[in-house]
Amino acid sequence: MAEKAPEASLQLDSSLLGMQTIAAGLDVPWEICWGPDDRIWFTEQNGSISRLDPTTGEKKLLLRIPEVWRHRSAGLLGMAVGKLIDNQVYVFVDFTHRHDSVITSRLVRYRLDGDTLVEARLLLEIPGNTGHNGSRVVLSPGGLLYWATGDAANLANAQNRASLNGKILRLHTDGSIPADNPDPQSPVWAMGFRNMQGLTFSATGRLYASEHGDATDDEINLLLPAGNYGWPLVEGFTHTDKEKQVQPAGSMPPLKAWTPTIAPAGMEYYGSDLIPEWTNSLLLGTLKDQSLRVLQLDARGEQISTEQVFLEKALGRIRDICVSPQGEVFLATSNRDWNPAPGFPKPQDDRIIRLAPDQRRAATVYSATAPGDPTTAQATTAQANPNPETIYNQYCASCHKPDGRGLPGSFPALKASPLVNGDPQALIHLLLKGKKQMPAFEFLSNQELSAIGSFIRSSWGNNQTAITEPTIQLSRNK
Ligand code: HEC
Repeated sequence: MAEKAPEASLQLDSSLLGMQTIAAGLDVPWEICWGPDDRIWFTEQNGSISRLDPTTGEKKLLLRIPEVWRHRSAGLLGMAVGKLIDNQVYVFVDFTHRHDSVITSRLVRYRLDGDTLVEARLLLEIPGNTGHNGSRVVLSPGGLLYWATGDAANLANAQNRASLNGKILRLHTDGSIPADNPDPQSPVWAMGFRNMQGLTFSATGRLYASEHGDATDDEINLLLPAGNYGWPLVEGFTHTDKEKQVQPAGSMPPLKAWTPTIAPAGMEYYGSDLIPEWTNSLLLGTLKDQSLRVLQLDARGEQISTEQVFLEKALGRIRDICVSPQGEVFLATSNRDWNPAPGFPKPQDDRIIRLAPDQRRAATVYSATAPGDPTTAQATTAQANPNPETIYNQYCASCHKPDGRGLPGSFPALKASPLVNGDPQALIHLLLKGKKQMPAFEFLSNQELSAIGSFIRSSWGNNQTAITEPTIQLSRNK
């Protein structure tokens, strides 16, 4: 395949990378990982586990798991593959299951036998929901299993030590609890998470997670045993007085937080020097922002020193990343999922794409775009003169869509909505306080809320008066 001319090039400081599609027509490849057989193993959200030969492009379905319940963000999700001490290849997956009205997340192990997976063994089953099920599974360099679970859309779970939701769980590969866990009776290894979507070990054995915030504060965390990462008491860095009062003892700040949110997803540590600009960084795929982000770590792996953004909006949503032992990078798109971006899916979606050094310059050359101010929340929200449409696109369009038409069954249309076109008080109240899956936007300034409120009342055929800043302040005072 390498002989084929690259479909596009990616220009770094000095390296030139070529992009090649190595698999197309997939149905939301949720996890891609490099197997001990030098194949790319991938899950699809519908319940399939397959292997892909990255040089010939040949795909082989290993198993279709009938117990998978696919709905919105639920389905077959994370996977880890590795050889265990018996020298057999094992695969660990987690998926959503539904029986009558009871939804759960299952962690299941299989053994590879020829071209199929056998000996299904349920290691753990925990409460699930229609969203916030996490999750990723990784094997540590020492051969332990780490499972990043979601809070199952129940705020109380993440700070409740007795609940296995909103946690990093640590298990032996047979599902038993390691004696050196923080509590030897419990798989809980770290707590205080909302909905993690990326999990990766560095070359020196540090563990990092990416996590979706609510309306603000997507996060990258460096995970430590018994660490408490704050959700739902603290979002991102501790900034408000209320957060200072309620933050749990010993709570850990993130390495990085993003407001407006970008929906960080799969993440892979890059330790190779094949692409020297990326050595010792975290490669992060994003859904809402539709980009590959390169987060350079310091030598100790304790801080993110720089952030670069690549391929923004070029391939659509990027769900996962894997790296070959030679240092080639593979991306999986997620444009056939429940919430595609405008203009997607394209006919070839979903795809697995390889990025590797290639001196042949293609007609299309991408390079890094600025990530905005890397110093997080405060800097990005305090803009002097916000453009109303820009703020709408940053905070609202991922759900209600740039054209205000929403997503039937999930997110109501704002175009011709009686609430948007009616009494401003009811609209302001909803924006400040949120409602069920609609986040609260109290953290935005009066100026920003006035801009957004006025924008949605006068766009897409809506034709109502503006909402003023004093009206918003009055609502806040009530
Ligand atoms: C994470 C997805 C999400 C984001 C982001 C989001 N909303 Fe919503 N919004 C929802 C959902 C879900 C509802 C329906 C809530 C309900 O009634 O249960 C909703 C309802 C609404 C409604 C009421 C519509 C109607 O006709 O009932 C308005 C108005 C609205 N949102 C405006 C906004 C604005 C403005 C923003 C950005 C500041 C925003 N939303 C951001 C998910 C979202």
